[in-house]
Amino acid sequence: MKLLLIGSGGREHALAWKLAQSPNVETLHCAPGNAGIAEVADIVDIAADDIIGLLALIQREAYDFVVVGPEQPLAMGLVDALNDLGVRVFGPTEAAAQLESSKAFTKAFCDRYDIPTAGYGVFTDIAAAKAHLKTMTAPYVLKADGLAAGKGVVIPETLKDAEAELEEFFSGKFGDASQTVVIEEFMRGQEASFFAISDGTTALPLIAAQDHKRAYDGDKGPNTGGMGAYSPAPIFTDAVLATVMEKIIQPTVYGMAKDGHPFKGVLFAGLMMTDEGPKLIEYNARFGDPECQVIMRRLQSDLLPLLLAAEAGTLDKVDAPAWFSEPVANVVLAAEGYPGAYKKGTVISGVEAVNERDGIVVFHAGTRRGKNCGKLKANGGRVLSVTASGETLRDAVDAAYEAVDAIKWSAKQYRTDIAYQALKQNT
Ligand code: AMP
Ligand code: GLY
Repeated sequence: MKLLLIGSGGREHALAWKLAQSPNVETLHCAPGNAGIAEVADIVDIAADDIIGLLALIQREAYDFVVVGPEQPLAMGLVDALNDLGVRVFGPTEAAAQLESSKAFTKAFCDRYDIPTAGYGVFTDIAAAKAHLKTMTAPYVLKADGLAAGKGVVIPETLKDAEAELEEFFSGKFGDASQTVVIEEFMRGQEASFFAISDGTTALPLIAAQDHKRAYDGDKGPNTGGMGAYSPAPIFTDAVLATVMEKIIQPTVYGMAKDGHPFKGVLFAGLMMTDEGPKLIEYNARFGDPECQVIMRRLQSDLLPLLLAAEAGTLDKVDAPAWFSEPVANVVLAAEGYPGAYKKGTVISGVEAVNERDGIVVFHAGTRRGKNCGKLKANGGRVLSVTASGETLRDAVDAAYEAVDAIKWSAKQYRTDIAYQALKQNT
């Protein structure tokens, strides 16, 4: 088959790496890709949110199947346009992707289908929002309704800070995305990311991973897209999996179909393990980044048949995927300053040698090759995802950090405590 993968992050490198191993993939193109993806796919220089450019490419190249990695093209209706053209594509329609693109949509949906989540209010007016804050206790959870690159949630500790934050939201901190604000009850517990593939009626469970959203060690600092991940997540037991499928994933697939926008694609449930059981923090309509990197490392089965069955509506006929039992850890290397301002163009070395090590795969995110020198250069906020497998999670984490040490890059910023919660639990 001839495939197009859309995106340029560590997630897409992991998807490209896995898809390139499929016996049924003859040609793999990726738009816009990165320096790592260029090693397993042909790169096409069209941005993931350039819908017109992508549609022209897809018609010109007559791909058999298109896989959409990131959320922006989903929320912009790329899948709808491809459905109209009769092109097979993996990913939800714009209406179904509202599970990610509108937090207010998802909260109302959870209400309708009795899906456990935090109590909430939705506000388009600052006075009403401020009045609501006064009825709540700290910490305060404020969320921009729309897409904000994983940064649209703030959790101020004091009423004064929460009010100041509301002012910023309504004065356009996240543009239109924060003109509607969701205020939620604060939930306590450990977090896990759980993934299922849906074909609109059937949901096939994948596995869980744990991410590290904050920029700095000890879960300090601003929220990021994610600074590291590992799988399996010890807190995500088989009993938890059964509960999450029954109370969260299945009602979601059922409800979305009933409401007239069946969800085809990856359902990524961000979960809080509370004393009352798992509750939904948020949905994403695509794989997580960096969770995808550890999940693809652990997936033993071919990925392509799962994606094709989701598109075709035949997931009920697919065998449950097989997984490698070895734990996998992933340390994200970001450019110094991320998620704030950071420099591009700094030179990175040592990646090729590290990739030769047993159990190590370095996925690229914001990277490019120097035009004349061919050197690897940083080209984004999150730059590399260093993944390692090991007999135990401790072994995987140690191997990942040894690899991180061997990568030479003056602007390297990373967390040194990936998987600390699980490691504490195990010792
Ligand atoms: P989200 O982008 O909705 O996943 O939120 C980003 C992060 O904010 C989550 O990973 C949680 O750590 C935190 N968070 C979001 N909502 C809540 C909540 N209701 N209670 C506690 N923490 C939350
Ligand atoms: N790692 C969280 C996300 O992809 O949104």
